[in-house]
Amino acid sequence: MKHLVAPSILSADFANLQKDIEMLNESEADWIHFDVMDGVFVPNISFGLPILKAVKKYAKKPLDVHLMVSEPHRYIEEFGKAGADNLTVHYETCPHLNKYIQQIHSNHMKAGVCLNPHSPVHLLEDIIQDLDLVLIMAVNPGFGGQEFIPRSFDKIRKLKKLIQDTGSSAWIEVDGAISTKNAGKLVEAGVDVLVAGSFVFNLHDNDPLKLISGLKNLSDSSA
Ligand code: DX5
Ligand code: ZN
Repeated sequence: MKHLVAPSILSADFANLQKDIEMLNESEADWIHFDVMDGVFVPNISFGLPILKAVKKYAKKPLDVHLMVSEPHRYIEEFGKAGADNLTVHYETCPHLNKYIQQIHSNHMKAGVCLNPHSPVHLLEDIIQDLDLVLIMAVNPGFGGQEFIPRSFDKIRKLKKLIQDTGSSAWIEVDGAISTKNAGKLVEAGVDVLVAGSFVFNLHDNDPLKLISGLKNLSDSSA
């Protein structure tokens, strides 16, 4: 399978969100990554359900929701109703992960688990077969525009092996400091979905459509 690209609208222009969503509709992006932050689990507040509903009105691509909130299970049903297609919760926020994954599925969404940089892959041994996605944080969650943590490569290789050994059909997604500089090597290591925020939206003198295309067609870029 060719890898997917999921631009994160955390770095979009919030005063012109409709314009950026329409740009993503026209682009080679596969999913739209939507970062929800509560100022408790992570030291930043972003956006939540009302904005997701607004984005859903214009988005023609699946909405990939990354919940960086405490007690995410309290909001599973509401995110399903608001239009999330994928719902990813952090391992670090979930004492009853098995139950929450079942709830995500019964609300008709793909279920993902995200690992913070300090959380080892083996924590997923007894849940991996129930997952559609595993999101590896390559930065500490909370902000766009940080530096890539090199150890993430090793984690992705370990996760790939766990998926193969268990016959899981989970996809590997990576989030944080992704650009055409590291995307090729990440896909080689086993990544199926590349999330990119500031690389796509913050370079004002560049064309986001071209940048997304560069991430999608890595052999044509500097990968
Ligand atoms: C960070 C978020 C990311 C963020 C990535 O906590 O989960 O999705 O938007 O931004 P960049 O690509 O700038 O690291
Ligand atoms: Zn994210």
